[in-house]
Amino acid sequence: MTMPWDRPAHPPQTAPQPLSLLDGIAHSHEISWTPTPESTLASDIVTAVEEASARFDRFAPWVAEHFPETVDGTIESPIQHVPETRDFLSRLLQRDLPGELWVKRDDALPISGSIKSRGGVHEVFRLFEEKQHESLSVASTGNLALSIGTVGPLLGFDTEVHMSVDAKQWKKDLLRSRGATVIEHPGLFTETVAAARHSAGDAFFIDDENSLGLFAGYAVAGQRLKEQFEAEGKNFTPDNPLYVYLPCGVGGGPGGVAFGMKMAFGEAVSCHFVEPTASPCMLLGAFTGNPDVTCADYGLSGRTIADGLAVQSPSPLAFEHAAHLVSGFHTLNDTTFLAAVNWLERSASIIAEPSATAGLTIPWRLPDLPDTATHLVWLTGGSLIPDQDKDRLRGQAATASLHWQR
Ligand SMILES: Cc1ncc(COP(=O)(O)O)c(C=O)c1O
Repeated sequence: MTMPWDRPAHPPQTAPQPLSLLDGIAHSHEISWTPTPESTLASDIVTAVEEASARFDRFAPWVAEHFPETVDGTIESPIQHVPETRDFLSRLLQRDLPGELWVKRDDALPISGSIKSRGGVHEVFRLFEEKQHESLSVASTGNLALSIGTVGPLLGFDTEVHMSVDAKQWKKDLLRSRGATVIEHPGLFTETVAAARHSAGDAFFIDDENSLGLFAGYAVAGQRLKEQFEAEGKNFTPDNPLYVYLPCGVGGGPGGVAFGMKMAFGEAVSCHFVEPTASPCMLLGAFTGNPDVTCADYGLSGRTIADGLAVQSPSPLAFEHAAHLVSGFHTLNDTTFLAAVNWLERSASIIAEPSATAGLTIPWRLPDLPDTATHLVWLTGGSLIPDQDKDRLRGQAATASLHWQR
């Protein structure tokens, strides 16, 4: 049976009935759910974000020395207007998109080439200042480990990274070359986190599923993005709104960024999270109101080509502090994830990893957009992919784009 929300170009005009939505999720359909968001920001988290911003400033001279690719030691990525991508996708999806399309280039973020540098590096800086631990441990599908496993050893921490079965070989190789101890696990992300948490001993365990330090680091992006758009002469108001589209795994990265967006732009911003049809954990948590939900509860495998998003449960912390800020939860299947890699490269000459392009087509799903809208698709990872892996990804993405059906 074809569900009304099966077709990205023609989103349902009214909210689907609860049972039908869960049915669509359980049958791995691509769906969208657009709840009414609330803008409440917990004051202790706001304080933690302000502290994180000041901490990044304190470490800027150190960053400048060790990562000369940064500008003045600021770990930040550019924004880019991509009108060609907007036109390309409008033709493909057979609908014009009101407003401008921009991308946020966290695929090129210094240190790990992914959004996870924001949180991961901040948490290592915080632990360095705290001076309580000599060893760090982290579990990851890859990108969080890349940031912690790079900065941890440089700051003198013994750093152990536990990689789940979905982690790419090149990420493990790169981590070993950067001085981290890599432990490979045969299980999925949630099992890997549990095993790593259990074996951490005296090491500080950086918990991707529950870390305020990570969350606050991601959120610093909000104020910085505001300054970047101001430099482009763009200010946002509810009449000139900003829409932000974020790939979501456990939710710490997109949750932190959404929190920072609300701090910086208030009612002028709408945040949308995008997850794989095989692991829509944050959507399930928000829809059912149950933060302990797992994909398996709905018969979903949690396995996806979008390795960074291959998680089985939402982060309770992100759930508590960010799920209510979200204006839309959306899912994609693996064919669309891969095809989007192809569409982005063809239209903007940017090659990103499959997780990173999740938001690309989502603006076309939203009804009633104003002409004054600015859409910002957060590209969350990719610049460190080795050439050989890039070629393989290009091939898979080209094949997926041929098989993709609207
Ligand atoms: C490229 C990429 N995008 C997005 C995410 C999602 O971040 P989170 O798991 O914090 O929701 C990840 C997570 O590893 C990632 O690697």
